[in-house]
Amino acid sequence: MQQKKLAFIGAGNMTRSIISGLIQSGYDKTRILASNPSMPKLEALSEEFGIQVTQSNDEACQFAEAIVLAVKPQIMADMLGALTANNDLEGKLFLSIAAGLPVARLQTMLGGEYPIIRIMPNTPSLIGKGMSGLYADDTVDRDDKDYADSVMGAVGETVWVDREDGINGVIAAAGSSPAYFFLFLQAMEEEAVSMGFDKSVARLMVQQAMLGAAEMVCHNPEIELSQLRSHVTSKGGTTAAAVNTLIEEGLQETVSKAMRAAVARAEEMATQF
Ligand SMILES: NC(=O)c1ccc[n+]([C@@H]2O[C@H](COP(=O)([O-])OP(=O)(O)OC[C@H]3O[C@@H](n4cnc5c(N)ncnc54)[C@H](OP(=O)(O)O)[C@@H]3O)[C@@H](O)[C@H]2O)c1
Repeated sequence: MQQKKLAFIGAGNMTRSIISGLIQSGYDKTRILASNPSMPKLEALSEEFGIQVTQSNDEACQFAEAIVLAVKPQIMADMLGALTANNDLEGKLFLSIAAGLPVARLQTMLGGEYPIIRIMPNTPSLIGKGMSGLYADDTVDRDDKDYADSVMGAVGETVWVDREDGINGVIAAAGSSPAYFFLFLQAMEEEAVSMGFDKSVARLMVQQAMLGAAEMVCHNPEIELSQLRSHVTSKGGTTAAAVNTLIEEGLQETVSKAMRAAVARAEEMATQF
């Protein structure tokens, strides 16, 4: 992995998880720095990972060859406005993980066409099982794309999209989707409780079933999902009774409607900040 001097502006949850992954992957901790307005998160990062920390975004900017923009979208304009006013940004690579902020909008905030890679990570990145989508236009060179890929590869899998609106598809399929699975499990847990199981037993059963199913999917990439399902569904059996009910009740249509709603909301958010 290239070892650019890497600064994180905003030391929240996502920064913490990416730094954790990078350190575990052998990234030189002296080449990582994080900035944040308040000290407690910085102190925790410094103590746990031995990285450099600062309350000054300007210091972070001056240190860095690559900068991860990891603040909430609604404060990005003010933060970048100050950064642009106080620093020479020439030659720096920007990696933005902020949801809903297109490259062109970020370039306007930065006041120039600096190389920007947009990244959409998801929450399981916090435990190293993330799925990130990445996008960069043609002005970003191969080395920088490879670098961004290896940074996010430290917390999970990566996919690249050719067009920026593909990021909204990543949001629907991966960014927001852990919550779909949580909802499905919740419904199953509630039904198991109503069948008389203790809540802890109900939860154990459904979570272990999902973990096993997910591992089977991951270990058998050559087997279609429909085939994995048919392998465990005997005709006329209990699984068939349940699965047919889900299909008849419109599960597939509901899922596709939900994913389209996520895309629509992402498009709407892109116009807000
Ligand atoms: N978490 C996810 O699963 C996820 C997924 C996809 C994308 N993202 C994106 O990742 C970004 C960070 O998310 P997060 O979950 O890590 O949020 P977070 O935990 O709220 O972290 C944001 C951090 O930014 C700091 N901050 C506020 N103003 C700042 C400034 N002017 N300069 C520097 N730092 C400043 C905050 O500090 P204080 O707390 O001290 O104010 C906070 O530590 C967001 O844009 C979000 O859209 C997150």
